[in-house]
Amino acid sequence: MGIDEARKRALELKSLIARNDRLYYVLDAPEIEDHAYDALLRELASIESDYPELLSPDSPNIRVRGEPRGEFRKFTHASPMQSLDNALDLSELRGFYGRAAKSIGRDDLEWVCEPKLDGLAVSLVYRDGVLETGATRGDGTVGEDITRNIRTIRSLPLKLLGEVSGVVEVRGEVCMSRDDFAELNRSREESEEPLFANPRNAAAGSLRQLDHRVTASRKLSIFLYQLMDAANFGVRTQWEMLLRLEEMGLPAQRSRRFCGTLEEVEAYLAEWDEARHENPINTDGVVVKLNDLSLRTELGSTAKAPRWAIAFKYPPEEKRSKILDIAVSVGRTGTLTPTALLEPVRLSGTTVQRASLHNQDEIDRKDVRIGDAVWVHKAGEIIPEVLRVDLEGRSAESVPYKIPGNCPVCGAPAVRLPGEAAVRCPNKSCPAQLQEGIGHFVSRQCMDIDGIGPKLIAQLTERGIVKCAADLYSLRAEDLAELDRMAEKSSEKLIGAIEDSKMRPLGAVINGLGIRNVGRKTALDLASRFRGMDKLIAANEDELSVIEGVGPVVAASIAAFMGEEHNRMTIERLREAGVNMEEAGGAEDPSKRSEFFSGKKFVFTGELSMMTRAEAEKLAESLGAKTSGSVSKKTDVVVAGLNAGGKYDRAVALGIDVWDEETFLKRVKE
Ligand code: IVH
Repeated sequence: MGIDEARKRALELKSLIARNDRLYYVLDAPEIEDHAYDALLRELASIESDYPELLSPDSPNIRVRGEPRGEFRKFTHASPMQSLDNALDLSELRGFYGRAAKSIGRDDLEWVCEPKLDGLAVSLVYRDGVLETGATRGDGTVGEDITRNIRTIRSLPLKLLGEVSGVVEVRGEVCMSRDDFAELNRSREESEEPLFANPRNAAAGSLRQLDHRVTASRKLSIFLYQLMDAANFGVRTQWEMLLRLEEMGLPAQRSRRFCGTLEEVEAYLAEWDEARHENPINTDGVVVKLNDLSLRTELGSTAKAPRWAIAFKYPPEEKRSKILDIAVSVGRTGTLTPTALLEPVRLSGTTVQRASLHNQDEIDRKDVRIGDAVWVHKAGEIIPEVLRVDLEGRSAESVPYKIPGNCPVCGAPAVRLPGEAAVRCPNKSCPAQLQEGIGHFVSRQCMDIDGIGPKLIAQLTERGIVKCAADLYSLRAEDLAELDRMAEKSSEKLIGAIEDSKMRPLGAVINGLGIRNVGRKTALDLASRFRGMDKLIAANEDELSVIEGVGPVVAASIAAFMGEEHNRMTIERLREAGVNMEEAGGAEDPSKRSEFFSGKKFVFTGELSMMTRAEAEKLAESLGAKTSGSVSKKTDVVVAGLNAGGKYDRAVALGIDVWDEETFLKRVKE
């Protein structure tokens, strides 16, 4: 294509893209499929890469680069999704009650109390009984269309029970339980992903995923509390409304109560304040709603909130306790972590006796001292935390707390590296580090050796039987049988489990080594890139940095680990014991060589949902492709997952083929 033709086509493409942008973002009426739209963008990008002089400031490819891509479609609510006024104590609640009673001219009002679930408000539209749309609240008037994500919530029926014709709109709250939140964060921690601050954020983050398969993997629940235009369904009260929702097969708000008087409302508030801690989902208050729908119309709304309902908010739970002592534990990498040992106190349904103080900076900031009276709470109703010191109760003799200058376990002088918050024990043979390190080595994410718990590890290390992970492979059943509480049978079973672990994949072995700053995800990436332990040992920092997620700090810490004689010795002994040191299936299988993949250069970027990036790379390589960590002119295909960033932009700018995960998997199967 000559430059004149290219200029003409570029103009055409820009106007086509602009028209489709408007249809999609403004008019909510797209005419073409996403992939056809992407093809337009790509065609333009390739022209712009061939003729950089045609790259003008109004190019949609420039807009794409800096900003997130168009996300969800907008959804305008049939009627605004209002919020609620709050009552922060009983006198504010009574004020609300008084105003309603006065306005209606009656003092015998009936109420429905419902827990105020701490989640995300959504509106659902069913047409002729079938779920048509799910949308977030947004600014109350316009929300986001999250239908594909909402549909993944198992408890939500896609079809209503019974014969329901026309449009039914219902509203409610999408939530995540405390347990599911904790589990999600645990797995994110293992794969070095950022943690969610609380269950509400986790629910919101999961629901607003562009890839609904990610939403599907999160455990969300939904509870409905509102049926719009309820009168059309012969419903006259809130109580009937909740029953009607249930008749339609919808999960309605639970733990609700009908209250005939203000006293009954207050009794419910007191009861729920206790019971809410047993509820799997966080609730920070109770919504008190006038039962009679026609009286609600009489009361009406202010600009922001209805006058017929109020959210009673429980004060954040803070209790006084006392710092009895500060214990310092030593972690796998030698980090000394201070923990406050507290006078037992009941908080959000459990007895709390310990709270992490994190590090010296945190202790200094709060000026926490042994013997101090303190206020504690549970962050996100889960993690105990010392909020602040009650200075009035401080004794004159108290002194600022300093983390000991020596390791509490081995006595080695502790060090604090520049730029780090943590103080560390530098002694590689510190028994505490050794025990934690062995615990990590045998854990599920690493060598997955069943039957070795902390007590057994303590015995093995204290008796000097195990001095490094490699020693596990020289254990004999007789050695174990001598230990406390080890029966012959379980000794043999354990030896069998240790033997089996020799075949774990290379990524698990690398993870098991316990290299600082290298978690499971990085370990898998390292295994898939270097394919053998020797290549990893020999890699310099530049070669390591090619891997996505390995910056200079991680690269330096891998190089430092491999530079230490005793670490290389452990690896050698593991190898001699027969532990796998190669990435299986690494060599390309000629029978699987695919015509398309063969010899092509692939780059994977962003979060994939069906597999890890390392697995996807392995798959592409098994078909004859080459994979790389960086995008260049020589790259043939970039497979972009969620939150793909710079590499995606570069691929677009260079006019390289960009696939989503689905396309990749389709081509693999071809
Ligand atoms: S009724 C106009 N009932 O609280 C009435 N809201 O502060 C609108 N919420 O946006 C809401 N549980 O996200 C209602 N049982 C409940 C609720 C509830 C939680 C949330 C909802 C709403 C916010 C208002």
